[in-house]
Amino acid sequence: MNSQPVLKVENLRTHFKLSKPHPFAEAPIVYALDGVSFEIKRGKTFGLVGESGCGKSTTALSVLRLVEPTSGSVKLKGTDICQLTRKELRHSRRFMQIIFQDPYSSMNPRTTAGEIIRSPLKILKIGTPQEQNDRVEELIKLVGLRPEQRNLYPHQFSGGQRQRICVARALAPNPDFIVCDEPVSALDVAIQAQILNLLMRLQREFSLTYLFISHDMAVIQHVCDHIAVMYLGKIVEKTNRRSLFLNVKHPYTKALLSAVPTTDIKTKRSSAPLKGDVPSPMNPPSGCRFHTRCHLAEACCFEEDPRLREILPDHWVACHLA
Ligand SMILES: Nc1ncnc2c1ncn2[C@@H]1O[C@H](COP(=O)(O)OP(=O)(O)OP(=O)(O)O)[C@@H](O)[C@H]1O
Ligand code: SF4
Ligand SMILES: [Mg+2]
Repeated sequence: MNSQPVLKVENLRTHFKLSKPHPFAEAPIVYALDGVSFEIKRGKTFGLVGESGCGKSTTALSVLRLVEPTSGSVKLKGTDICQLTRKELRHSRRFMQIIFQDPYSSMNPRTTAGEIIRSPLKILKIGTPQEQNDRVEELIKLVGLRPEQRNLYPHQFSGGQRQRICVARALAPNPDFIVCDEPVSALDVAIQAQILNLLMRLQREFSLTYLFISHDMAVIQHVCDHIAVMYLGKIVEKTNRRSLFLNVKHPYTKALLSAVPTTDIKTKRSSAPLKGDVPSPMNPPSGCRFHTRCHLAEACCFEEDPRLREILPDHWVACHLA
């Protein structure tokens, strides 16, 4: 298997400029994503985890250039998509797709399942109408729906079936890379497992590369090969699944893990539950952004932003005390 990364993200920043509260004020800036780097090898799943508002979806949308990054680079199979013209970007779209959390809101309620699945083929002008038709038939079976269901409308499906339609739509143009942004968070636990297993089966079958976003550590542990923990627009810990769950280092990751029922007693003992809310990304804390909630914070944490350092092989942590 090719070990070149399918996706390589370097120092990606996305800052949102808000409108001025009054004409003489400065426009407030949301530092949603503030210098994030990672790479994903072919056929692997890279997980992003963190609390609400930490910048997971902004990372997803920036990587696909569905929002414009402020700086940094995103190389998809060696091509920096941040440098592409609109036309070139359109061509690259067939190689990168997204599955959203809420399948219902990401589909037109007046369009049949078959047409929804066909839509990327039409937009990207892939195949003749007959080829598109055959591809839809193939995809419907591939995601575990029945052929006659292609003529039904979104409201005639269950939540899990709707997510299967979204999976089929994402697969339609035969992409290399798929972003899954909380793909099971809106589903019942029993259905979650079915969709996760479907995604994992398709990955094996088509060597798909996933960026998988979730706030649920148990889901992340189930599906991801590598994991990055995000806090206020930055990665605070990044490693492979085994090392994250065996050698967890960052106080924030420990706190997230302590809430997972399967986590071992050692992790639970060495962590403190998270108190308070995530501070505003418009005005992030000085030094280590986590210092306002960290039970270990020392003087240096208030002043100096900790760099992400490799403290064990393939295990990166941004904490002065790690
Ligand atoms: N278009 C935008 N304009 C201004 N601020 C934005 C925009 N999109 C996101 N933000 C802000 O950026 C921060 C990160 O948001 P993001 O949606 O990436 O978080 P998230 O980790 O995906 O959260 P959740 O788990 O709730 O989905 C939040 O503070 C959010 O309010
Ligand atoms: S750098 Fe300091 S405040 Fe930040 S996580 Fe480490 S100990 Fe806590
Ligand atoms: Mg999100």
